[in-house]
Amino acid sequence: MNNQKYDAIISGMDLQKPAPENEPFRQFYFIERARQNLQKISASAGRKLTFCVVTFGCQMNARDSEKLRGILEEIGYVQSDSEDSDLVIYNTCTVRENANTKVYGRLGKLHSYKKKNPHMMIGLCGCMMQEEHVVQKLKESCRFVNLIFGTFNIYKLAELICGALEHPDRMIIDIQQSSDRMVEQLPVDRKYTFKSGVNIMYGCNNFCSYCIVPYVRGREKSREPEDIIQEIRDLTADGVREVMLLGQNVNSYGKNLRHPISFAELLEQIAQIPGLDRIRFMTSHPKDLSDELINVMAKYPKICRHLHLPLQSGSTRILRDMNRHYTKESYLALVDRIRAAIPDISLTTDIIVGYPGETEEDFQETLDVVRRVRYDSAFTFIYSKRSGTPAARMDNQVPEDVIKDRFGRLLALVQETGREQTARFLGQDKDVLVEQVNEQDADLVTGRMDNNIVVHFRGNPDLIGQIVPVHLDECHGFYYMGHAL
Ligand code: SAH
Ligand code: SF4
Ligand code: F3S
Repeated sequence: MNNQKYDAIISGMDLQKPAPENEPFRQFYFIERARQNLQKISASAGRKLTFCVVTFGCQMNARDSEKLRGILEEIGYVQSDSEDSDLVIYNTCTVRENANTKVYGRLGKLHSYKKKNPHMMIGLCGCMMQEEHVVQKLKESCRFVNLIFGTFNIYKLAELICGALEHPDRMIIDIQQSSDRMVEQLPVDRKYTFKSGVNIMYGCNNFCSYCIVPYVRGREKSREPEDIIQEIRDLTADGVREVMLLGQNVNSYGKNLRHPISFAELLEQIAQIPGLDRIRFMTSHPKDLSDELINVMAKYPKICRHLHLPLQSGSTRILRDMNRHYTKESYLALVDRIRAAIPDISLTTDIIVGYPGETEEDFQETLDVVRRVRYDSAFTFIYSKRSGTPAARMDNQVPEDVIKDRFGRLLALVQETGREQTARFLGQDKDVLVEQVNEQDADLVTGRMDNNIVVHFRGNPDLIGQIVPVHLDECHGFYYMGHAL
């Protein structure tokens, strides 16, 4: 986003007065105060201070990181890719144990950098910090961490950084258990100039039995449609052509607003915004996916031909236990309705293997759904026990070797059907939004079709951010090689 509009308000903040109570002005005040603190430190160090924000989680986590970066740049830090920076913030995820372990593993390395750099500060935020036992452990064994905050107060970053700069010897911890407020209108540093995530709702009310997200992200809260539309208008004015609407369950958007509105209605309004070429969204919970939404998708070609529709399991018995509120049959019927209305749609999914009590028969049901639906691709996960969730209390955990064997079989099937599905566009002409120079070959550029499939073709970097018609020459499993028309 164009952050210049913030400069005048921020530098106009009077630091002689106490900090304002109302947001976002309170944060503007602390940005200015942090700026002045940082300038002094920079002057004594004889160089500009750098920062690095590392994202460990999902698209929502990534969007939060863009908000953190926007505030830090406004304070005057210079962005760097290196974790050997003057300020490193880990934006953590705790959806599975391995996301969690990774953070502890990398903290040791940060500590060694910090011992060599007297200006270095370390911050931890995100979903993992909402877990009491994590913060307890950090308090006991990672005293070198300067700042710990959670998922409900990232907007307060400037205030927290100010505290950390003014008290470098303290460990500042600010975790809220929940929040009804949504503080917006703060600077954001977008990773891409031409596409952007847009939060339409926060939190989750579904309490799937295995999942920790509702505990660390709180109850579902939808943003007002006018605010979302205005944000997207501003983004398009700033050159954005594709938006990804973000929520844990976008299909239940708007139900709790003062003037309730459905997700399909919101999409239809967004589809009218001039200058916007592509609209994506995630994630769709199958239980709430309405026919109204299918119709709106079919009506507006701007809405991308892609649906991420997490299955989790193909066994109705396991789905009931998972608290998913759909059955194998109702899921398959939904897929049929979607394909009847939008025949060329790409479907992708998430599947968990080894949920407590999963039998070979249950697993066969999952394989059966994969064979029938023929996903373009699927994320497959080994069940991970998350403390505090109902599934963690179940004593019929599946043995590790059985899970590994099932996981291997599922992966093989998903790859086989994915390859076949992806190849169905071979020889066609498709629009590709160019995202970057190809990582292996600088003569190529890489982009995505509207169904999210990756295409590489010969082209120069000027094409980045443009939608280019491309002929699809070769399919290599999950991506295409093509040539511009
Ligand atoms: N809100 C989204 C999913 C968010 S989490 C939805 O409902 O679809 C992303 C994925 O992580 C989930 O779809 C699920 O497949 C996986 N996941 C969540 N908790 C997990 C756990 N405890 N073990 C393994 N995978 C898990
Ligand atoms: Fe987790 Fe279920 Fe909410 Fe998705 S819908 S975030 S899987 S509880
Ligand atoms: Fe992870 Fe939090 Fe997203 S737990 S998956 S970063 S909502």
